[in-house]
Amino acid sequence: MTVAFTTDVLVVGSGPAGSSAALFLATYGVDTTVITKYSRLSDSPRAHITNQRTMEALRDVGVEDTLVAAATPWEWMGNTTFCTSLAGEELGRIPSWGTDTARRARYELQSPSPMLDAPQTVTEPILMQAAQTRGVKVRFDTEYLSHEQDDEGVTTMVKDRLTGVTYGIRSTFLVGADGARSKVAADLDLPYEGPGAVGGSMSIVFEADLTRFVEHRPAVLYWMLQPGAEREGVGLGVLRMVKPWTEWMLMWGYEVAAGPPDLSDEFIRELAVMLVGTDDFEMKVTSASPWTVNHHYATRIARGRVFCAGDAVHRHPPTNGLGSNTSIQDSYNLAWKLAHVLRGTASPALLESYDAERAPVARQIVERANASIADTGKILEALELQDTSDVGRLRAQLALRTAPGPDGERIRAQLREAIAYKEYEFDAHGVEHNHRYASGAVVPDGTPEPEFTLDRELYAQPTTWPGAKLPHAWVEVNRVKTSTLDLAGKGEFAIVTGIGGDVWANAATRVADELGLAIGVVSIGPGQPVEDPYGTWAQLREIEDSGVLVVRPDLHVAARASRAPAAADEAAEWLGAALRAVLGR
Ligand code: FDA
Repeated sequence: MTVAFTTDVLVVGSGPAGSSAALFLATYGVDTTVITKYSRLSDSPRAHITNQRTMEALRDVGVEDTLVAAATPWEWMGNTTFCTSLAGEELGRIPSWGTDTARRARYELQSPSPMLDAPQTVTEPILMQAAQTRGVKVRFDTEYLSHEQDDEGVTTMVKDRLTGVTYGIRSTFLVGADGARSKVAADLDLPYEGPGAVGGSMSIVFEADLTRFVEHRPAVLYWMLQPGAEREGVGLGVLRMVKPWTEWMLMWGYEVAAGPPDLSDEFIRELAVMLVGTDDFEMKVTSASPWTVNHHYATRIARGRVFCAGDAVHRHPPTNGLGSNTSIQDSYNLAWKLAHVLRGTASPALLESYDAERAPVARQIVERANASIADTGKILEALELQDTSDVGRLRAQLALRTAPGPDGERIRAQLREAIAYKEYEFDAHGVEHNHRYASGAVVPDGTPEPEFTLDRELYAQPTTWPGAKLPHAWVEVNRVKTSTLDLAGKGEFAIVTGIGGDVWANAATRVADELGLAIGVVSIGPGQPVEDPYGTWAQLREIEDSGVLVVRPDLHVAARASRAPAAADEAAEWLGAALRAVLGR
């Protein structure tokens, strides 16, 4: 077997997980190669909702502005509409993704970054181009076949799909970001839980100017209650904006047992006319493909030198828009760890924390996305229907919605409640932000986990409890408004302290020398390099002025001390011990 070349990290796949892994690794200076099966990046829009946590990761590596410029803005993402068709009767709307006035404030308090809508056809090229600019080598038409690990590294066999030639690539680590049918995960024999395939859906992408039906209620998603819509699929029929308001993706379910339907031109036109509610529009279909609604997550996501990320380890429907977001966040969690191990500043033990931290997230998001499909059933229940098989009854119940009298009043109230409940899908801000990691890369401070005072799925609740994400606050550096998140990250550790925390700064210099690490020092408070003019940071930090937070490169709190010790030596000892524990040294 020929080993054609060596690389520090070989990434299999160029989807959100693979392209972002490559970007993060390259930013941290890691020699990285991506192989990907096809001759192109994604040609289908698929993932689009891009949440703040993803944007924070991209902000950290300087790509946030590029994506913002290319994406559909946050303001146009609200107004998720439930209707019988675009031209037909509207059942109600739910302000979504933090666009409601009250919710928006919570989103803005939580993060310096916006929500936005960017299909994979927009996001992947941005991530991959930035990765390539930073030195990543990409080999298209190259298929992963198998791998073998030994004490020194991994040998991966690949096939050049143009010539049929197979060859080996030698790497220190391998990242399997090869999607829902991951061969890397299968070869690792990762254990999965969950029922597996739970339904079928088809996605049809088409161009059509539907502006007249939607410009008064701009949204990303329009959900259609039509006969048969609740069977399989994602709960109802969907028209999803790809490009406002001229490009769309239609989603409709099919029974897995019966197999995908013949996606003929006539069938597609019929579906589109049914969901738009009129045939008075022209359309050009650009792609049509069936896909499986999955309920499957790996309970272990890495073995030895091989790490899986993205749909390879969490397979679920698009509800809640968590797929590519979680994939990118997996890679953000993994990349700094690989970089530090490769640099020799961490021991391989640090890598065990990837599994400990991200496997629970895989489970959480798969359960959440599937629960959201079930929640859509509440809309039928609100109309006092079991299903839509009796079209006459469906019409009669819908007619009650506008009828005077107690029956109408009851149906209206039930519908309002059912639609409002969908905030667990369209405004689950807590699901996106409330991760509190527990692993060897977090040093507990002996305090109990702070309770969630609000619904933990709906509301982001910041804390500096070790394992949680560093809270965002607007502070000021040299008269420039800056997020606390901007003060750390970039592949390095940082400490955050305040007035009276000088011992920590001295300790950081000493420990940085001892461990051969860069440790950023941030001091926030009146007269400090970072000012806290609104006092927001003082409210959020949960430590005294002289206390310290040790922040990991992925902006999670690794350790904290509520106040400075009296002796400088003690501070250096504490910081050294905390970082050694995190780095496995
Ligand atoms: P992905 O499948 O994107 O990429 C896998 C990569 O591996 C590809 O580059 C492929 O070519 C490559 N590959 C596979 N086998 C290989 C082999 N043997 N050798 C080499 N390369 C190989 N998510 C979200 O966050 N927000 C949203 O709004 C939506 N919406 C949405 C709508 C619809 C209709 C669908 C079907 C899905 C979504 N998603 C979503 C989910 C999202 O698309 C999905 O979670 C991500 O694409 C997963 O990214 P990955 O990089 O893990 O896999």
